[in-house]
Amino acid sequence: MLVGGQGTRLRPLTMSAPKPMLPVAGVPVTAHMLARARDAGIGRVVLATSYRAEVFEEYFGDGSAHGLELEYVTETEPLGTGGAIRNVAGRLRGDADDPVVIFNGDILSGLDIQALIRRHREAEAAVTLHLTQVEDPRAFGVVPVDDDGRVTAFLEKTPDPPTNLINAGCYVFRRSVIDTIPTGRPVSVERETFPALLAAGTPVLGFPDSTYWLDLGTPAAFVQGSRDLVTGRMASSALPGPVGDCLVLSGAQVAPDAKVGGGATVGARARVGTGAEVDGAVIFDDAVVEAGATVRDSVIGRGAVIGAGVVLDGVVIGDGAVVERGNELRAGARVFPGAVLAAGAVRFSSDRT
Ligand code: GTP
Repeated sequence: MLVGGQGTRLRPLTMSAPKPMLPVAGVPVTAHMLARARDAGIGRVVLATSYRAEVFEEYFGDGSAHGLELEYVTETEPLGTGGAIRNVAGRLRGDADDPVVIFNGDILSGLDIQALIRRHREAEAAVTLHLTQVEDPRAFGVVPVDDDGRVTAFLEKTPDPPTNLINAGCYVFRRSVIDTIPTGRPVSVERETFPALLAAGTPVLGFPDSTYWLDLGTPAAFVQGSRDLVTGRMASSALPGPVGDCLVLSGAQVAPDAKVGGGATVGARARVGTGAEVDGAVIFDDAVVEAGATVRDSVIGRGAVIGAGVVLDGVVIGDGAVVERGNELRAGARVFPGAVLAAGAVRFSSDRT
């Protein structure tokens, strides 16, 4: 599982924690994906770490608490997706023809992992890729396939995509194919390894699948993924509570007249004051939403304080930041960790004019 990226699109949240460790519906994204792997019968996972590598082992340990055997391989310099896969080759068990499943650690997906492996084995493919359909594929790696399901091209972030099928970030590699990736330098699996396999005539298979899929790379997607887990649209056995309209974690205090719903998560020991409204938002541990504040579709970092009556909609507040009363922030605004937004500093009114 690849978990070493910087997560630049999710800044400032990723300044204090790597993206795969950010809590989505109460536990790290990676915990949801590891649970899915375990539920599919996978017993051993190697985590390829780089950025903020230490936090993974602190949280997951040897994996036994999660029903898995976990190992960690840390890159001294980030090696990119392909380089990271090559870098763990020495830890993979099994024979040259055995399948190795690779997951991006920042994806939520309902993919039937066993079905993907079966297809790979039956077709005797070198690599089999999970493909998913998105409305606008321009920001993704587009992967056209022929009538037999064989991949015909890899088109990274192309302005005029010939298909809506994209690389969904989960692959099965024949073990021996991993050994062909160059060592000791950054390699992008999407830009270098896959196109090179195609150019060499190696059979690369696509596995289109239409179950739930979401790349949690952006703040809007992150909020959406959390909501979908809380409400059960995306099933996860790692969800730390029952499916419902909201998830309130242990030690959190929610005022009886506060409105918390729409798939919102209130983190451990966090507080939501009287008359406040939290709709579909993700409130990290120890954060405070004071009386009468409205927090919609936003992420509130660990220990941040949202003052009385503040309105937040579609924004990201970094860990420990303080947004004092009388502020109104909307779509796309990001407040950096520890920053203090003085009372009444920002009012956003363009959607009222
Ligand atoms: P952005 O900077 O916002 O694009 O995010 P990112 O750094 O996570 O990059 P991207 O979403 O393209 O990465 C896809 C997956 O590969 C994620 O799970 C990353 O954690 C992982 N990843 C990306 N680069 C590396 C790397 O150099 N080493 C390792 N081990 N994993 C990586």
